[in-house]
Amino acid sequence: MTQEIKKIAILTGGGDCPGLNAVIRAVTRTAILTCGYEVIGYKFGYRGLYNNDFIPLTLDAVSGILNRGGTIIYSSNKDNLFDYQVEENGERVKRDVSDVAVENLKKEGVDALIIVGGDGTLTSARDFSRKGVNVIGVPKTIDNDLASTDVTFGFNTAIDVATEALDRLHTTAESHHRIMICEVMGRNAGWIALESGIAGSADVILIPEIPYDINKIIEKIEDRGTHGKLFTIIVVAEGAKPKDGHVVVSKIVKDSPDPIRLGGIGNKLADDLERLIEDHEVRCTVLGHIQRGGTTSTFDRILSTRYGVAAIELINEGKFGEMVCLRGNKIVSDSLENVIGQKTKQVDPDGELVTIAKKIGTSFGD
Ligand code: F6P
Repeated sequence: MTQEIKKIAILTGGGDCPGLNAVIRAVTRTAILTCGYEVIGYKFGYRGLYNNDFIPLTLDAVSGILNRGGTIIYSSNKDNLFDYQVEENGERVKRDVSDVAVENLKKEGVDALIIVGGDGTLTSARDFSRKGVNVIGVPKTIDNDLASTDVTFGFNTAIDVATEALDRLHTTAESHHRIMICEVMGRNAGWIALESGIAGSADVILIPEIPYDINKIIEKIEDRGTHGKLFTIIVVAEGAKPKDGHVVVSKIVKDSPDPIRLGGIGNKLADDLERLIEDHEVRCTVLGHIQRGGTTSTFDRILSTRYGVAAIELINEGKFGEMVCLRGNKIVSDSLENVIGQKTKQVDPDGELVTIAKKIGTSFGD
């Protein structure tokens, strides 16, 4: 027999992305309108769970948020409750404080917890599930690098933003006969660069999965010149690296469970190219967090709504420890154990998207 559910909670963890509010809205509306559940939202991800800091999620609270990026319950990418920084005798030490979170859930009478996040947040979700908490995972990240699901929400909005940026760079590149580099996010996966590069007709796409040779990029620029194309558009993933080199790290966020922040490869490539080719000016645009903010795309609004409704359905079926996923065009689920047990999802250098891009003449610098 499945457990009787009266009250559920939701939290959003890790870097934010467009579609979080759409999930919160879908969860809340389905829970209230279809099931009669009470809903609360823990603030700032796991930190709110630890501090028992939450807001009631009512129909009013989630009104007007479908299209808005960000998260009305805030997020944090620093708070791993299994390795949490606390003060003891005036010193900062790391402790497993997950029992405090479990007690808080009991105290508030929360029967099931929906955790929306990427691999870091969902690793803790799996660990709370192992401790007996009724957890459901929802996959988010602009990077699209989570295993087991074809798509995470947030990715589509990010590639729309990056594609528009490439369109805009095209016109100015053409006017000045310049090489325009656009650095996009994605951590160690090249999905954003690959898909925006194809949609935004980049001449060169550089991704972490295919280390580049700068001479091949120069060949491409020169080849375009012989065909009367005196400008070149390059999209580079923040995790891309030269064949004989390393990724560029922009900062180390000390108190983050995943402290390395990538960034800077675009400007490095611009410097390298300007040194090696004299007759071209090179400029670099770093898109950064613009890819994570603003209005949520139509695709992400729908995907997030589907994920939110599916999360409530899993609760109703008592299928805890699962994460909702998209496979083909179907919403299904997979166990968090299985999702987290796999490597993050990277671009296949021999896969269809890279192959079609190569067939239409796009260089990957290889
Ligand atoms: O995982 C999402 C992401 O935006 C990555 O693409 C990027 O590397 C990272 O987060 C940036 O993190 P922060 O918001 O801490 O700068």
